Amino acid sequence: MTKIASSFLFFIFISSLKASTHIQPNALVLPVTRDYATSQYVTLIHQRTPIVPIKLTLDLSGQFLWINCDEGYVSSSYHPVHCNTKQCSLTGSKSCRNCFLSEPGCNMNTCNLFPNNIFTRTNQIGEVALDVVAIHSTDGSKLGKIVTINNFLFTCGRTNLLKGLASGVKGMAGFGKSNISLPSLFASAFNFKTKFAICLSSSKTSSGVLFFGDGPYVFLPGIDVSKFLMFTPLIENPDNSAGPIFHGRPAAEYFIGVKSIRIDEKQISLNTSLLSIGDEGEGGTKVSTLNPYTIMETSIYNDFVDAFAKELEDVPKVKPVKPFKLCFNLQNLGVTRVGPAVPTIDFVLQNKDVFWRMFGANSMVQVSYGVYCLAFVDGGVEVTTSIVIGGHQLEDNLLQFDLHNSRLGFSSSLLSRQTTCANFNFTSST
Ligand SMILES: *[C@@H]1O[C@H](CO)[C@@H](O)[C@H](O)[C@H]1NC(C)=O
Ligand SMILES: *[C@@H]1O[C@H](CO)[C@@H](O)[C@H](O)[C@H]1NC(C)=O
Ligand SMILES: *[C@@H]1O[C@H](CO)[C@@H](O)[C@H](O)[C@H]1NC(C)=O
Repeated sequence: MTKIASSFLFFIFISSLKASTHIQPNALVLPVTRDYATSQYVTLIHQRTPIVPIKLTLDLSGQFLWINCDEGYVSSSYHPVHCNTKQCSLTGSKSCRNCFLSEPGCNMNTCNLFPNNIFTRTNQIGEVALDVVAIHSTDGSKLGKIVTINNFLFTCGRTNLLKGLASGVKGMAGFGKSNISLPSLFASAFNFKTKFAICLSSSKTSSGVLFFGDGPYVFLPGIDVSKFLMFTPLIENPDNSAGPIFHGRPAAEYFIGVKSIRIDEKQISLNTSLLSIGDEGEGGTKVSTLNPYTIMETSIYNDFVDAFAKELEDVPKVKPVKPFKLCFNLQNLGVTRVGPAVPTIDFVLQNKDVFWRMFGANSMVQVSYGVYCLAFVDGGVEVTTSIVIGGHQLEDNLLQFDLHNSRLGFSSSLLSRQTTCANFNFTSST
C-alpha cells in the first residue's frame, strides 16, 4: 500500500468512529443459541459489504472480536488498522507488522493483536481491522430498526484457529472486560453505558438473547426481567487466567464474591479460603460460558455433593453417570415448575440476604430417560479458579454485566417468573 493511500485511510478512520445512522438506539439485541455438539453458545452478527451473516462462539472471557479472514473474506469496506493510529492505541497493541499480500488479514504497517481460542488454548498473531457491522436495535421488548456501524474493530484470525469451535462458526465474540470487547464497542458507538445482558435458552429449538445497553429486558408475556435483578459487585482479579499469554495482566473475566453456599437454606461447611482471590489470581468464583456445567475445586465439590446428598438421604440413588457423582430417578424426586424437586442451592454473596438461588432446572441435568444428576463437576485440586459457574447453571437466568457500575445483576430462574430466556420476541415487524 502506498504512503498516500494509508494516510488517506487513517483520515477515514478517525473521522468516522461513530455510527453512521441517524437514530441513536439505547439498546441492541442479538440471538444466542446452544450448539449441542460442542456445548458452545453461538451468536450471529452481520458484517461486511455486501453484508453477510457471521456465526461466532460467545466468549465471556475474550477481550475482543476475532473473525477468520483467511477464507471467504470478501468486503469492499474492509480496512486494516495501521500502526500509530488512534484505533491501534485503543487496542493496547504492542505489535506492528508488515505483511505483503494486500488482502484481508495481511497488509503493510498494521497493528496486531493475538486472537485466542480458549477451547484449544491456542492463539496466533492477527491483523486488527475495521469493517461494517449491522445489528438490530431494540426498545427492550422487540426488534427495532437495524443500525449500522461503519468501522467496527475486530482482529483477523486464521482458519486453523477455528479448530474446536462449533460447526459453521467463523470466530469468537469477546465479551470480556476490555475497552475493545463487543459490548464496549457497541456502547461507545452509540454513547450508551457499557452494560450487557445474557439470557441463555435451555430450549433446543428457540434461541436466547443478548442485550447491549440497559433494560428494560422484556420477555413474553410482557415481563420486564430487569425489575427482578439482584446485584453483586464484580471483583477485580489481578491476574488473567484465561490465556497463558495474558498472565500478569488483570483478568478480562467476570469474578463475583461467593462467600458461602447454602443447601436448603443451610450453610454448608467448606474451606472458605478457596473462595477469595489470591495475589496470583488463584481461587475465587467466576462466570463462564465455556464450561457446560459448574466446576468446583475438589474439596469444595466433595463438601457440596455430600451436603446435597444428605438433604436427599431418603431418596434412592441410581448409579452415577460420569462426570457426575449423584443421580436419581425423576419419579423419586418429583417435578415442580422450576425443574426436579430438589433442595435449593444458594450462592451467598456480599451478605446473607444477597444470594443467587438455583432450583432443579439449573442444578439437575437429565442424562438418560428419567435419570437426573446433580449438574456440577469436580475440577480437581489444581484448578486456578475455585468455582467456575457454567452454562447449565446460567440457562433461563438473566445476567446483566454492568461494567459502568462494576456489578453483576442476576435474576435467578425465570421459570419462577413464568417466562424463559427463549421468550424474547424476535419476530420482525417487516
Ligand atoms: C484501552 O485499553 C488499552 C489496553 O489496556 C489501553 O492502553 C488504552 O489506553 C485504553 N483506551 C481507552 C480509550 O480507554
Ligand atoms: C484451605 O485451602 C487452602 C488453599 O488451598 C489450603 O492452604 C488450606 O490448607 C485449606 N484448609 C483446610 C482446612 O483444608
Ligand atoms: C412481536 O413483535 C412484533 C413486532 O416486532 C409484533 O407485531 C408482535 O405482535 C409481537 N408478538 C407478540 C406475541 O407480542
